[in-house]
Amino acid sequence: MSSVLVLNGPNLNLLGTRQPEVYGSVTLADVEGMCIAHGNSLGLKVNCLQSNHEGVMIDAIHNAKGTHQGIVLNAGAYTHTSVALMDAIASVELPVVEVHLSNIHAREAFRHKSYIAPVALGQIAGFGSQGYVLALDALAAQFAT
Ligand code: DQA
Repeated sequence: MSSVLVLNGPNLNLLGTRQPEVYGSVTLADVEGMCIAHGNSLGLKVNCLQSNHEGVMIDAIHNAKGTHQGIVLNAGAYTHTSVALMDAIASVELPVVEVHLSNIHAREAFRHKSYIAPVALGQIAGFGSQGYVLALDALAAQFAT
């Protein structure tokens, strides 16, 4: 059975109460539960991790090599700043699907730049928590090829 790491970055622990007009009312626990259930239906084992710390996220990406076959990543604001996360993804050579709840391209200009996108399989943005489900579908399809 393939394993997928669902990795959420800074401030995503506050989902549900954080700017609900932008990010919706679902909590991180809801998102993670949805990912585990949808993963099950696709025959994927899903492990979830959230961290507010860039280094912890980098360690998680390194540790995913050999233990997981793909990563669903919402790097939060580190998306727009972190060369280190980009390098970590490039180093492990695992398929990564970049997810954002909001449509980052319809927001402030500084959110249009993603350091994750060039090293990701693809990016899903603007579909709220449904984006995580779409990302798991994309990885499952990738594993089947
Ligand atoms: C986000 C978008 C980022 O710009 C922001 O910093 C976040 C959340 C999203 O899911 O829409 O923390 O990644």
